[in-house]
Amino acid sequence: HQSLCGRDFLHFSDVGTSELERLIRLAQVLKEAQKSNFTHRLLAGKTLGLIFDKSSTRTRVSFEVGMLQLGGHALFLPGNQLQTGRGEPISDTAQVMSRYLDGVMIRTFRQSDVETFAEYASIPVINGLTDEFHPCQLMADALTILEHMGGLQGVTVAYVGDGNNMANSWLQLAPKLGMNIRVATPPGYQPLAHVVEEAKFHAVHNHTQVLVTTDPLRAVEGADVIYTDTWVSMGDEAESEVRLSRFEGYQVNEDLCALAKPDYIFMHCLPAHRGEEVSESVIDGDHSVIFDQAENRLHAQKAILAALLADAGAFGEDL
Ligand code: CP
Ligand code: NVA
Repeated sequence: HQSLCGRDFLHFSDVGTSELERLIRLAQVLKEAQKSNFTHRLLAGKTLGLIFDKSSTRTRVSFEVGMLQLGGHALFLPGNQLQTGRGEPISDTAQVMSRYLDGVMIRTFRQSDVETFAEYASIPVINGLTDEFHPCQLMADALTILEHMGGLQGVTVAYVGDGNNMANSWLQLAPKLGMNIRVATPPGYQPLAHVVEEAKFHAVHNHTQVLVTTDPLRAVEGADVIYTDTWVSMGDEAESEVRLSRFEGYQVNEDLCALAKPDYIFMHCLPAHRGEEVSESVIDGDHSVIFDQAENRLHAQKAILAALLADAGAFGEDL
């Protein structure tokens, strides 16, 4: 895990296939260990700051618990209670926190703010969700797909809904893990153009497929995984009425899922809105793996934390 040691985890642009595969393997090992009540105290005595400018259930709890299970400690730092909320520069905050902590996770609006923080920090910075990306969620999702499908190579993921942080992260990750990714959004709600280009570039190299369309039926036809997310992300609340009408016809329901492979799985990063982006029958039905995904946030993040923050000698022969 040397290659990620001391680095930031802000998006997937600078993370290679072998590093991603090693992270997933480490997550599997840490999950098995935890299931048999064994704890690898890879981060004994280490501290992680958790800066939240947006709400969270899964991310906050899984990071706090994950640090504890690895022998370290996490500090919950709501942005509005930090001096950044009163105008202290991000650059100063990053340099101050680097004198106390071993790592920082940040959930905020602008990706550029996380990048600025990372530029001035001398400790690893982890993106816990921005308007643009949600890489920690994607590592949990990859682990979940691996567990349910037995592999990642050649798996086709159909993402239907808003071209938001989740869609962008899927486009960045899928080709690097040998997966096909199809994204269907209403016109005007497409994922970031430069991310689509990046995905197409890696897809050519890795012989995978990328499809960005406005047709949900085309996306879902024959897919192994159907993925959706809220139509109104944190920060989009003012547009919610317009969005709910524009996204009509993009709901993941029984009719749409009937086009996928018979043994498809349904995924959602949560929180979900039954009756909006997904019907109750699908999200609470037999194909849904949403709570496995939520659980895997813990295991995947422990792998990320260990890879970034553990001392070189901390990994035993079994890791
Ligand atoms: N999926 C996810 O990141 O959930 P929270 O917003 O609850 O952290
Ligand atoms: N797209 C959602 C994901 C929440 C985990 C949001 O940004 O609010």
